[in-house]
Amino acid sequence: MRRLLIAGNWKMNCGPYDAAELLEGLKAKKAEVDEHVDVLVCPPFVSIGMAVKYLYDTDIQVGAQNLHFEENGAFTGEISGSMLAESGCNYVIIGHSERRQYFGETDETVNRRTQKALKHKLAPIICVGESLKQRKAGDHYDLVKDQIKAALNGINEEQVLDVVIAYEPIWAIGTGETATPGQAQEMHEYIRKILAGLYNQETADSVNILYGGSMKPANAQELLSQPDVDGGLIGGASLDADSFSEIITIAEDLA
Ligand code: PGA
Repeated sequence: MRRLLIAGNWKMNCGPYDAAELLEGLKAKKAEVDEHVDVLVCPPFVSIGMAVKYLYDTDIQVGAQNLHFEENGAFTGEISGSMLAESGCNYVIIGHSERRQYFGETDETVNRRTQKALKHKLAPIICVGESLKQRKAGDHYDLVKDQIKAALNGINEEQVLDVVIAYEPIWAIGTGETATPGQAQEMHEYIRKILAGLYNQETADSVNILYGGSMKPANAQELLSQPDVDGGLIGGASLDADSFSEIITIAEDLA
């Protein structure tokens, strides 16, 4: 049985002080979470320590938003998988469309980061998804398939059980526009089919596939109740303790 995962992607928001305030609010509402739901926050690197400290006595886990694919060395400005693990992270977001768009992330570097994350026992949340132009051209299925195949190159059947896929249509990220529950389900089902082809059905049925793109309390119920939607990667609404905890409650009610 897959467990629902509600993950907050804070992006470049909340230094340690703001993080403490947001986490206080979240803790007050959701220190304990239903055993069938996993909850995660992914703050910027500098606030990870604060989050780990604040959340140690809660059911909420901490992840990062990126990692470098080398072990250590002369890579100014980068953070390694071992550093994240040592800091208390259990998850790491990889290949977010903002990183692909603004920071030269490619399918190849996504794959290298995924390998490194798994090596350090960080569950990679691999982001895939198409632009509006690609969807309009009918290319979205092929694109997502290529992104997933490249990301999982060399990842074996046992390792993929720790991988989380996040389907985030670029046109729905931060725009207020959401994929309809039907559009999300359709793509999630397709992603599971790709996984079944790469591995087998049982393995595909065990992998968590999250939806991301303007998920909020008003649409979470509909999206999360789709059979192949196993949670959400939530940007904007995760920066508000009330909204984020409301989405967690919705997931708990569905679990
Ligand atoms: P959003 O961001 O919820 O603000 O659309 C989601 C994401 O980019 O992970």
